[in-house]
Amino acid sequence: MPDLPTVVVADPIDAAAVERLRQGPCRVVDATAGPEALAAALPEAWGLIVRSRTKVTADLIGRAPKLTIVARAGVGVDNVDLGAARARGLRVVNAPGAATQSVVELSVALYLLLIRGLQGSIDSTRRGRWDRSTHGRELAGKTVGFVGYGRIARAIASALGPFHIATRAFDPLLETSPDATPLLGLDEVLSGSDIVSVHAALTPQNHHLIDAAAIAKMRRGSYLVNVARGSLVDEAALFAALESGQLAGAALDVFETEPPTRAELVNHPRLIPTPHIGAATVEGQARAGRDVVDELLRALRGEPLMSQVPLPGGRP
Ligand code: MLT
Repeated sequence: MPDLPTVVVADPIDAAAVERLRQGPCRVVDATAGPEALAAALPEAWGLIVRSRTKVTADLIGRAPKLTIVARAGVGVDNVDLGAARARGLRVVNAPGAATQSVVELSVALYLLLIRGLQGSIDSTRRGRWDRSTHGRELAGKTVGFVGYGRIARAIASALGPFHIATRAFDPLLETSPDATPLLGLDEVLSGSDIVSVHAALTPQNHHLIDAAAIAKMRRGSYLVNVARGSLVDEAALFAALESGQLAGAALDVFETEPPTRAELVNHPRLIPTPHIGAATVEGQARAGRDVVDELLRALRGEPLMSQVPLPGGRP
């Protein structure tokens, strides 16, 4: 019997999805224990499944001479060196829609936590206070501005319908708006929104897109939410803006380094920090695992792929 191709699971994904892969025409190696397990598995890897923990660098690709396909069980592929993948002739697939609803729900939860000042109420009640004074505002009547208007931001705009809010968006990749949300320049989104919500993919060009100058253009007393990628926001500038009152509050699900290293920011009373859990729901992870396993099974059978990521310079 010919050797079956080896699929290496580098980061923990949905267990049912891994079990389904095991029923396919491949050998599955669990290398989720850490870098040593991954290093031992790479020489035989035909396929590699990652979430965001494993960085698929040129070096890693070089240590996997039999590799043909990288499957990202999630949306963002900023942890995959797409140029190196292209140079090696690898295919890269992801699960672009798997986490949309999960990220939508987290985003709306963060907007409500911020605008109602709920974290402060929770903390003070736990400390034994009973503060029923008027504070917080309604979401209704406010404007949410999206920086990046892809699948997730559009789904948030749609979900916000019953809250009677206005939306506006900046997205240099779009020529026209796909819905009723007007597409505007970045400055107009920053200056015209009560909540600026960041949903762009991270590229070398948009590192610190939300820097001190951008935050200065936001309405005084407005809010910033980032559930996309940490490096889109300059954390030092964000901390200064929370201190000065330029921003009334912020919520970060993602950080410049993860886990975060700026204790003063994480512990700031007007920051709500969460540990990159936008996609980490039972349903979201089940869909992400299912979608990448479907892609790998298609690749193993020589069938066309459904969610191949475009590589710089075109597909190999
Ligand atoms: C994604 O890009 O899918 C999310 O950030 C979640 C993850 O990294 O798994």
